[in-house]
Amino acid sequence: MNSPTLGVNIDHVATLRQARYARLPEAHNVEPDLIAAALACERAGASGITVHLRADRRHLQDADLGRLQTVIQTKLNLELGNTPEIVAIAVALRPADVCLVPENRQEITTEGGLDAAGLRAELAPTIRALSAEGGARVSLFIDPDPLQVRTAAELGAPVIELHTGAYANAAPGSPARAAELERLRRASELGASLGLQINAGHGLNYENLRPLLCAVPNLAELNIGHSIVSRAVFVGLENAVREMLGLLRSNDGNFR
Ligand code: PXP
Repeated sequence: MNSPTLGVNIDHVATLRQARYARLPEAHNVEPDLIAAALACERAGASGITVHLRADRRHLQDADLGRLQTVIQTKLNLELGNTPEIVAIAVALRPADVCLVPENRQEITTEGGLDAAGLRAELAPTIRALSAEGGARVSLFIDPDPLQVRTAAELGAPVIELHTGAYANAAPGSPARAAELERLRRASELGASLGLQINAGHGLNYENLRPLLCAVPNLAELNIGHSIVSRAVFVGLENAVREMLGLLRSNDGNFR
């Protein structure tokens, strides 16, 4: 059993804010406050704050980034698509971590992993710029596929984040779920053998976390957003983060 650290993705706190205030830029009573949310996650023991600056700015706004970078005490993990505009923002911001993700405008959330193998030529200069000029530790968000893992190592990315969406979407107890866990286990072992740090995320929740931890070795960091923000509606954000950390650190089952 390993005990990875927790990065809390607070994009959906911004989603809630934008639902009301996107068209009211002058409003004085904007809520919920994204910075307060980040600080609550840190108070509860999160090791990092993760946000995704999307090209369409559907949740996080540019102004949020500078504030988060200044105020948080842990580390900022900025998810970004490989577009010149967003890469330039990341290089200037110099967050501790960046995670390159695929992005298309129609998707509701990040749907699949980055095709590192197919996009090798475009990714190489971006990884160089983010690490050399931006001073960031670069992660590639990829499916648990051996070709993608090997390509990440060849491209010189020190970290991969394994996409757990297919695992999360498979029914508990189903053969599909077992197969996805096995893919994740193999990808993690391959990545570790190539010297990569292994992170994971997408679709993780209070139910599916423990089976993942039991099956997949080497996990250094998990990035979890939607389920924590959803649980916060009922128990508050600090408690929601604490509950997730409790699951990460203990062997007992479910809080609910
Ligand atoms: N990791 C990455 C790279 C993501 O793109 C996302 C979703 O934005 C997450 C983790 C968090 O996923 P979820 O909100 O489903 O927990």
